Amino acid sequence: MTELKNDRFLRALLREPVDRTPVWMMRQAGRYLPEYRETRAQAGDFMSLCKNTELACEVTLQPLRRYPIDAAILFSDILTIPDAMGLGLYFETGEGPKFKKTVRTAAEVEALEVVNTAKDLSYVTDAVSMIRRELNGSVPLIGFSGSPWTLATYMIEGGSSKDFRRAKGLVYDQPELADLLLDKLADSVIDYLNAQIEAGAQAVQIFDSWGGALSHHAYQRFSLKPMQKIVEGLKREHDGRKVPVIMFTKGGGQWLESMADAGPDALGLDWTTDIAFARQRVGDKVALQGNMDPAVLYASPQAIREEVSRILKRFGHGSGHVFNLGHGITPDVKPEHAGAFFEAVAELSSVYHSA
Ligand code: CP3
Repeated sequence: MTELKNDRFLRALLREPVDRTPVWMMRQAGRYLPEYRETRAQAGDFMSLCKNTELACEVTLQPLRRYPIDAAILFSDILTIPDAMGLGLYFETGEGPKFKKTVRTAAEVEALEVVNTAKDLSYVTDAVSMIRRELNGSVPLIGFSGSPWTLATYMIEGGSSKDFRRAKGLVYDQPELADLLLDKLADSVIDYLNAQIEAGAQAVQIFDSWGGALSHHAYQRFSLKPMQKIVEGLKREHDGRKVPVIMFTKGGGQWLESMADAGPDALGLDWTTDIAFARQRVGDKVALQGNMDPAVLYASPQAIREEVSRILKRFGHGSGHVFNLGHGITPDVKPEHAGAFFEAVAELSSVYHSA
């Protein structure tokens, strides 16, 4: 295996000394970049782009050619798992993801089969292998999956939702059935992420985009518990190096202690949590990733720089911080503003490290 030239992202996740704070951005490969829109048009549509190994690799690398970024993230989607389970994922322009079939009844949950990544999702592991080859050790590659609860919301609702009335209705009305669905999804995610790790993903992130929609009690049982099962089932070392796991619950600021106890190496924070207070609460248990409000990217480059500086200062001295947004970059942000974000982290963070 080629030696990794820039490993500050992996080191920060393990709270090892670094020269400066590493940075990447959720949805860094996406519609705000004109070259992404061009490649997507060439592929035809979003899912064809995900399934085309060369083009998925190309869009993964695009942001790295423009900006000083410390990690690449596999270009794919969290909804590949329910698609592989036979639900028929499609995207209607401007409307987000949709499924041809939904999962709402006991019979529908019981009929679901745990995903076999090698058989049904080889386009994802092929992309991982090709991206690793093309990166050639420049920066590490992040693999990812949705959390069982987040995947379940799309499968039950049949697409995006504002209030999750069907998904939440199911967990509150038929908790045992929900447990069964979430357990099948947890086993699928374990298979999927381990396959990504074997193909070359050097860290993995679990996106729990909608855990924050649940009540305190329901979060523990229906979102965190299945994520804990995943963390316990993952290969945590590959090719002689630790593979850090990042757990990100959007809206999960009030549960940081129990999330840290579930065993990941790092927690993703959305922008509603003060990172200084989060650091006090989790102590030495985990690293933290985040947490600038993506909407700050609509402000001037100078304002972006000031906000980056404020967050770096709030985290303070020492390793254990990966800079990121608190959620994905939105499609109408100007590419120069994303540039101001990356450059500010690269330029302003070394004073917080003595390595
Ligand atoms: O971060 C990256 O650069 C890697 C790529 C990535 C995508 N989706 C590409 C994508 C990642 C990590 C995801 C994760 C994902 N997908 C999540 C979890 C993160 C989050 O945002 O909360 C969720 C909930 C999804 C489901 C999904 N996929 C939605 C709701 C949408 C439509 C939203 C939109 O922005 O239109 C997608 C489509 C999608 N996934 C796009 C991209 C770049 C936009 C599709 C396009 O090009 O038109």
